[in-house]
Amino acid sequence: MPTLLHLDSSIWPADNSASRSVTATFRKEWEAQHPDGTVIYRDLAVEPLPHIDAAQFTAGAEDPRRNTLITELEQADAIVIGAPMYNFTIPSTLKAWIDHVTLLGRTAGEQPSAAGTPTVVVASRGGGYGPGTPREEFEFVTTYLDKALTGALGLDVEFIVPELTLAPVVPAMSDLVELSDASRHNAHEAAAAKAKALAA
Ligand SMILES: Cc1cc2nc3c(=O)[nH]c(=O)nc-3n(C[C@H](O)[C@H](O)[C@H](O)COP(=O)(O)O)c2cc1C
Repeated sequence: MPTLLHLDSSIWPADNSASRSVTATFRKEWEAQHPDGTVIYRDLAVEPLPHIDAAQFTAGAEDPRRNTLITELEQADAIVIGAPMYNFTIPSTLKAWIDHVTLLGRTAGEQPSAAGTPTVVVASRGGGYGPGTPREEFEFVTTYLDKALTGALGLDVEFIVPELTLAPVVPAMSDLVELSDASRHNAHEAAAAKAKALAA
């Protein structure tokens, strides 16, 4: 039975969150393509994981929580992750998940157990950080996750980036509202297309 692992980490509910609404679009299309599929859902903002501690780090997969989270990762045939930009990087709640599931000798190392799993990361952000923009150097969401998810866990990651999300509410960004709308629209299209492509 195909399994999707769906993680959200925005502090806002779906109708106020670009990442939640785009991960939902991906999930909806994935479910349409896999009527017999299972979705494992973790809302890391509503039910945050505790930070990893020394005992859990040392116990590795012997720790029941880490074992559950790692097993969820390994069971997944596809993964979708909502990763909003908070102070130039990912929410600490998502970082806590990464700290729990990254285990050298199992999910990381020479033969990462979830290697190759198709993974869509919805990296929403209030401003613009694309190539050539003044704030490009401040972008530590996709640059970090590329290393943590692809480099360490071996996942097959594609980023979808709804950006300039603050344009409709920040007066100084009012010239960017059209670009913001287009970015969001493109993100939903890309998410649906990716879910379809994975099924094909
Ligand atoms: C705590 C916090 C920190 C933020 N820091 C940044 C930032 O550094 N750069 C940025 O462009 N937007 C920043 N934002 C705005 C969010 O990236 C933006 O609202 C984005 O749409 C969040 O994704 P969401 O819509 O899924 O919640 C921040 C928002 C919050 C709540």
